[in-house]
Amino acid sequence: MSETDRLRGVVLAGGTGSRLFPLTKVTNKHLLPVGREPMIFHPVKKLVEAGVREILIVTGTEHMGAVVGLLGSGKDFGCELTYRVQDEAGGIAQALGLARGFGRDGGLVVVLGDNVFQASLLPFAEAFRRQGRGAKILLKEVPDPGRYGVAVTAGDRVVRIIEKPKDPPSALAVTGIYFYDQEVFHVIEGLRPSARGELEITDVNNAYIQRGELTFDALPGWWTDAGTFESLKHANDLVTQGP
Ligand code: DAU
Repeated sequence: MSETDRLRGVVLAGGTGSRLFPLTKVTNKHLLPVGREPMIFHPVKKLVEAGVREILIVTGTEHMGAVVGLLGSGKDFGCELTYRVQDEAGGIAQALGLARGFGRDGGLVVVLGDNVFQASLLPFAEAFRRQGRGAKILLKEVPDPGRYGVAVTAGDRVVRIIEKPKDPPSALAVTGIYFYDQEVFHVIEGLRPSARGELEITDVNNAYIQRGELTFDALPGWWTDAGTFESLKHANDLVTQGP
């Protein structure tokens, strides 16, 4: 059995939600409505749809009570939920570091709590199981790549990822859906904070590129984050329109 045979899920729902202030003054971004449900239902349901049954939720201290009150044990979703607290918003990679020891073996599928998308993750989970080690990211062509991590490609390879470039080298955004083996925790241990003081997930992915262990696929269907007023409205429109 390869290392990634057993996939566990991680939903990262910390951060300050500052771009949505004052909507996020007294609540967590991931509790805001997208369509008829709180935003965080979406990544949880997508993981369950992909066959993932054990899911870790990471969020900050302020709203952990509300998040647990909303999601509970996971039984309503057909999964088992575990919770960990990120004391301060030190970045996506820091939040992921808290998943260390959540299952000692197996691979992880990580979904950012503000990502809303149409496609099933099942084929990508299966492809990552077959891959057996390393990392996989999902890319999406977007009209405004400068808002995201952007992939620099050479032929059919991703050679580098640049976080929020002023002059984007391609239109390929790195979505907030990532697959990692357990090596990710060693990679995170070696990270230094970026200029904005965060441990960056882009640095994690670049480390896997350096090792020659990062694969990618294109994510079909629609995809958006919901972290700004414009994208939150867009997410609501997409979800309401249905498939
Ligand atoms: O949505 C995809 C993009 O997400 C990627 O293309 C970027 O490479 C990646 O850095 C990220 O960019 P954002 O600027 O959108 O990340 P944001 O700070 O909005 O955080 C996204 C989610 O990550 C947020 O909904 C909750 C989680 N998070 C974030 C931070 C900073 C945490 O759990 N803890 C944190 O400390």
